Amino acid sequence: MLTVVTRNIPTQATLVSSTVSLEDITAQLDALETEATARIAAAAGSRELEQLRIGLLGKKGRISAVLGAMGRLPGDQRPLLGQRANLLKQQVQSLLRQQVSALEAAAMAERLATETLDVTAPSTFLPAGHRHPLLSSLDRIVDIFSGLGYGVADGPEIESDHYNFSALNIPENHPARDMQDTFYLDPGTLLRTHTSPVQIRYLEKTPPPVRVIAPGRVYRRDAVDATHSPVFHQVEVLAVDEALNFGHLRGTVTAFLRAFFGDLPVRFRASYFPFTEPSAEVDVLWRGRWLEVMGCGMVDPAVLAGLGLDPERHSGFAAGLGVERFCMVRHGIDDIRRLYGSDLRFLRQF
Ligand code: DAH
Repeated sequence: MLTVVTRNIPTQATLVSSTVSLEDITAQLDALETEATARIAAAAGSRELEQLRIGLLGKKGRISAVLGAMGRLPGDQRPLLGQRANLLKQQVQSLLRQQVSALEAAAMAERLATETLDVTAPSTFLPAGHRHPLLSSLDRIVDIFSGLGYGVADGPEIESDHYNFSALNIPENHPARDMQDTFYLDPGTLLRTHTSPVQIRYLEKTPPPVRVIAPGRVYRRDAVDATHSPVFHQVEVLAVDEALNFGHLRGTVTAFLRAFFGDLPVRFRASYFPFTEPSAEVDVLWRGRWLEVMGCGMVDPAVLAGLGLDPERHSGFAAGLGVERFCMVRHGIDDIRRLYGSDLRFLRQF
């Protein structure tokens, strides 16, 4: 009596038989092949496959068990059966490998399907800020003057009466000193009404030749309307050297205005400022009307003398412009209040 014992894999008891013949064992191997093929193909994971591998190919596995019965066969039948058994082993190994790859491929396909990143999908809107139109106009002004060789200076917004008025040749009784125009903090101290005091402060520290601009905030006791604001911005321009004349002023201002506004016609109109002589106001032709955009002139000899400079040797020109007006003309904005209201629908246009 010979009993082929099977282990590890639950069996349909195909191998339990008492007599051994080549046909029996071959049939058993055939049945084992069919069963192993089906079970490997049905295996859902690597653990299950490993158990099948041990159960089929292991030392105590089912193929070994069948081969164990081989010793009972006549010697001439054994090689044939041995061949058949080896083929089966190879086939099972290959089926196991295939199933491992098939499972891995399925797992990968699953991951690819669930973890896809669609780089072409539209993104959510990321709000990005940008420069305020007033500041971008100021940047442009600074850029142009930098290109002409001017440095940038600044001075305090809380200023003394001396720098804001007296040193600029603005006499005691000048209307600009009127309480209605100037925010006084105390009798000698005020919020600067223009950037011109930076001319004095700069020349006190810097001997000519000087080429500098001074952008900054200025304050006036004006009621708010479409063209007035109690706080606004100016850029002061100052050049002091030997032998500077009105032609230099005119050439510089014209080059600057052309760079900023393009081809708008420009005109110089005689005017008066206490700190310049002669003085002019500059207009650009905008929407069919002459619009004043800056004041300028040759630095008054009295101002130079007050700084200890010899007006016979040194001369200079100066100019002052309102940044808001430049910005408004540049962008076609008709109400200055737009620039200070934080209306994003307005600001996003620039
Ligand atoms: N400071 C003057 C103002 O605020 C503007 C100005 C005029 C500045 C003529 C200058 C100048 O430097 O030369 O109205």
